[in-house]
Amino acid sequence: MGLLDDKVVVVTGAGRGIGRGEALECARQGGAVVVAEFDGEAGDEVAKEIVAAGGQAVSVAGDVADADVADALVTAAVENFGGLDAVVNNAGILRDRTLVKMSDAEWDDVIRVHLRGHFAPTRAACRYWRESSRPGHLVHTASTSGILGNFGQSNYGAAKAGIAAFSTITAMEMARYNVTSNAIAPSALTRMTESLLPPDVREARQASLERGEFDFFDPENVAPFVAYLASDHSSHISGKVFGVQGDSIELYQPFTSVAEIRGDGHRWDPEAIPERMAELFDAAGIDPAPENMMARSRHKIIS
Ligand SMILES: NC(=O)c1ccc[n+]([C@@H]2O[C@H](COP(=O)([O-])OP(=O)(O)OC[C@H]3O[C@@H](n4cnc5c(N)ncnc54)[C@H](O)[C@@H]3O)[C@@H](O)[C@H]2O)c1
Repeated sequence: MGLLDDKVVVVTGAGRGIGRGEALECARQGGAVVVAEFDGEAGDEVAKEIVAAGGQAVSVAGDVADADVADALVTAAVENFGGLDAVVNNAGILRDRTLVKMSDAEWDDVIRVHLRGHFAPTRAACRYWRESSRPGHLVHTASTSGILGNFGQSNYGAAKAGIAAFSTITAMEMARYNVTSNAIAPSALTRMTESLLPPDVREARQASLERGEFDFFDPENVAPFVAYLASDHSSHISGKVFGVQGDSIELYQPFTSVAEIRGDGHRWDPEAIPERMAELFDAAGIDPAPENMMARSRHKIIS
């Protein structure tokens, strides 16, 4: 018995890294998998690996930010496996650059792949679930870069914060159709993050692997929790953001107001504001200057 017996799951960007692990785990949990991947060869390999292990999978090559490709994922699920139960939106790219050096293309490509790449498959799936009166599960891929901020990633962080907001609003809109929508902020060593690992952490990891210890950075570590979020076992959870890495599952609190100052019952006099600001920050215990929130996070590894 698996968490996804008789279920059908689309995983985007499933040709390598975290998405590959998610596709393999969904199949191990009994689900039939539509492997959606820009790199057709890599996608085919993962689908073959699943079938060779006794599971069910098909691959669809293409850019998931393209609405025709996104619609084709739902069609592939229905035509090959008789329906669709969950979509794991995982496909993503990096184009890191500090803001002042960033090109229009670096901004647009990242926003498009992440935001349209989440929007298009989600819209296709939600239309299908609404029309067929079937429940569904959506798992989106945000990042600590969007939640906490990360130097050199204004494009990526903006897209990832957008994905968290997109997931929350989708959860609200789709609740009446019994569709859940949750986001994860994963962390793992993949092609995307390989170059970001500091040399001392790289050496410590190598030594730990040689001792046969648990590989905290393995991208397949993210998959068990994603398989759970894609299953009916998590039907009571929606609109939430989770951190997932190694053996850790964290729950994030959404942006929330932590302090307030009030005027005298009228519109603020601009000249009265400067002397009241310290009161606001003191009440919250927050430094008004830019902060490195990533450095304060519990498990600081990579983006
Ligand atoms: N690795 C990490 O530590 C980390 C941290 C935070 C968030 N993430 C997010 O996790 C997801 C997976 O990242 P990864 O580290 O496995 O990266 P990866 O580069 O190893 O894999 C990403 C896969 O997505 C595919 N892809 C990219 N754009 C696509 C598109 N438009 N259509 C279809 N497929 C596309 C790529 O071909 C690749 O196979 C991404 O959304 C990434 O932003 C990763």
